[in-house]
Amino acid sequence: MSSSIFPVKNIAPDRLPDLLRRMPKAELHMHIEGSLEPELIFALAQRNGLTLPYAAVEDLRRAYAFTNLQSFLDIYYAGAGVLLHEQDFYDMAHAYLARAAIDTIAHAELFFDPQTHTARGVAMETVVNGLYRACMDAQTEFGISASLIMCFVRHLSEQEAFETLEQALPYRDKIIGVGLDSGEVGNPPENFARVFARCRELGFRLVAHAGEEGPPAYIWSALDVLRVERIDHGVQAFKDPALMQRLVKDKVPLTVCPLSNLKLCVFPRLADHNLGQLLDAGIVATINSDDPAYFGGYLNENFTQTFAATGLTAQHAYTLARNSFEASFIDAGAKRNYVDRLNAAFETFV
Ligand code: HPA
Ligand code: ZN
Repeated sequence: MSSSIFPVKNIAPDRLPDLLRRMPKAELHMHIEGSLEPELIFALAQRNGLTLPYAAVEDLRRAYAFTNLQSFLDIYYAGAGVLLHEQDFYDMAHAYLARAAIDTIAHAELFFDPQTHTARGVAMETVVNGLYRACMDAQTEFGISASLIMCFVRHLSEQEAFETLEQALPYRDKIIGVGLDSGEVGNPPENFARVFARCRELGFRLVAHAGEEGPPAYIWSALDVLRVERIDHGVQAFKDPALMQRLVKDKVPLTVCPLSNLKLCVFPRLADHNLGQLLDAGIVATINSDDPAYFGGYLNENFTQTFAATGLTAQHAYTLARNSFEASFIDAGAKRNYVDRLNAAFETFV
């Protein structure tokens, strides 16, 4: 899955950005609340009669100077406070999916954090129906397939995750999977063992953030205790050779987010990012934007900046795009279709 069978020859480095922008790809790690641009935050605040603690869009954008994950999460959860009505959730997801079309994203799996909203008195129904309607419209409007992954926030208890699951069950058919996000260090995956076991019984696809800031041990327990199918981030795996071997052997995809890692100081410079090492070790890595409104770029910016900084090649580009489809939760026929489209795009480009 990770090493390409497609021969990518003779693409000059100066043509790489164009190739990266034009190749079809899937985005598997983005938090839809992290796509709320400051302009939309202000527009929704006005529409909903809310006052923000910032005078203008530029003041809010200036606050986006993060030192670690928690410093970001504080602002991110505050920004999501402008979402009240189904149309707000629709507008947010529609704006992301319109932007995704520009980045030649063919398929997107959107994380959402219902607890951020239900804690403010917004009903689960409001959240899911608004997001789901935008996903359905994306197919007709942009030709993008999109699905929803509900994340439990790990700074709250497993009991609260169970309550969230209960609230989501009436909308089971609109949610493809569950994930685990929010502040990682001190909140290990095994705290959510029982709720993930229940989600597995219910047929949800399973993912979890692990090894973003947290240690390799969290990646092990996401795999062995939660039994997830993909690891979100996972970049700390390089510290543990046995874990690297396990990820390669079991073809566990990592949804890597380079600009997020840069903005949250996981790596000091983009040139220091280990994506190339992960790929060259045979890991099924993908590139994703995480929270594009906060981290300085949508998916194609993640591709072009990372390639420019780390010297990845056209062969890596093919592998990353192919991995994104192979690691997605679409059915086998749709996967083949997307990979055919990818191959055709490379053939045309070459
Ligand atoms: N990590 C954990 N939780 C998150 C993130 C992230 O990068 N983005 C939004 N919620
Ligand atoms: Zn994330």
